[in-house]
Amino acid sequence: MKITPARRLNGGVQLPGDKSISHRAAIIAALAKGTSQITNFSPSEDCAATLTCLQRLGVTIKAEAHIVIVEGVGESGLRAPAEDLYCGNSGSTMRMLAGVLAGQDFSSTMTGDDSLSSRPMRRIIEPLQMMGAVIGSNDDKPPLTINGRRPLKAIHYELPIASAQVKSCLLLAGLHANGRTEVIERTETRDHSERMLEWFGVPVEKSADGGISIDGPRSYAARDVKVPGDISSAAFLIAASALLPASTVEIKDVGLNPKRSMFVSLLRSLGAEIEVTNERNQCNEPVGDIRVKGKLNVESPSAVDSTLVRGNLIAGLIDELPILAVVGTQLPGGIEIRDARELRSKESDRIATTVKNLRAMGVEVEEFEDGLAVRGRTQLRGAMLESYGDHRIAMAFAVAALIASGDSEIAGAECVSVSFPDFFSTLKSLEKN
Ligand code: S3P
Repeated sequence: MKITPARRLNGGVQLPGDKSISHRAAIIAALAKGTSQITNFSPSEDCAATLTCLQRLGVTIKAEAHIVIVEGVGESGLRAPAEDLYCGNSGSTMRMLAGVLAGQDFSSTMTGDDSLSSRPMRRIIEPLQMMGAVIGSNDDKPPLTINGRRPLKAIHYELPIASAQVKSCLLLAGLHANGRTEVIERTETRDHSERMLEWFGVPVEKSADGGISIDGPRSYAARDVKVPGDISSAAFLIAASALLPASTVEIKDVGLNPKRSMFVSLLRSLGAEIEVTNERNQCNEPVGDIRVKGKLNVESPSAVDSTLVRGNLIAGLIDELPILAVVGTQLPGGIEIRDARELRSKESDRIATTVKNLRAMGVEVEEFEDGLAVRGRTQLRGAMLESYGDHRIAMAFAVAALIASGDSEIAGAECVSVSFPDFFSTLKSLEKN
């Protein structure tokens, strides 16, 4: 993909459905009794992988123009798949479905692409085995063969790492367990599973010390869902608009879950002009419209010193850290991201891949085991860039290329379809001279 620097972005867009919420809507609807209609379902390859896996497990699903109709099979209606369940690039598909498969009375195998096949699965294998499932793996990596057990044993489990995927896996397993399954998270992560379960009428209890509980075994009825626009996709457009002077971009009907929208509040605190209007609740998720005006007011007092992003902030920004590093190159004091070792276990090693691309553009960057530090106010140079097969790296550096001097090229940019297939055409439609 060749990218020419842009002068400004202008216009309004409505973004495809949130990827995280779409996965959950599909899985939870599949286990409901009756038919659910999901509108604005994410067109991402990741969510398509979830639908295909559910179909292989005997769920009838019709998908047309972002409307997905799921004929739920009920709590014990899944059947053994005739083939392996291919999860593609999607960690969410594999980790969340593992929770469902652990509670079945059959055995199944989940596989993934090269990237997914190198991602850590010990984090779900260990607690699911405590619940009674027997899981085979390739040294704690995919493929995973899950010999389910019905019913599972309910457990109390404190998450050793902050992960919404692991939390969701265990809550879904809890639907098939005898008694109360409690997951304790010390650092809050996205709570879409809790909200979606509640939307389908499944009570989820939360305690002050971070406990999230579900009583099983549990059956529930189908319900329609409307998915909000994806805030993590919006983040790239928000950053680009904030960085390009004279831009005004409006993004309608986007998810504003407080555990996902930290990027917006952080950019605002750094001086970006971002307005949120029309806030409302849609299917138990906060939704609203975002209007961004260029440019980042780099004279803002909080942007002058190096911005330090670490600790509990990381979980709320986990998918936005590569684009945040790009934004950091334009802040007077730069940015330092720490406590983000998890980034090394994403679709690529996002610390290494962000650092390599930033260096290619002439940025002074320091790499740490758990993050990076970027020197600020750097005029980026157009460069030959690499997606490393990672959708968020491709999109973050497409934004970097827009503010660079000279043209850039991103190799392997087609991987944006993992989360946002129309990313480049959306960007193009907003570019104005
Ligand atoms: C996701 C949770 C996060 C995030 C991923 C989607 C989810 O992963 O990075 O893109 O939908 O629950 P972890 O839970 O592994 O941090």
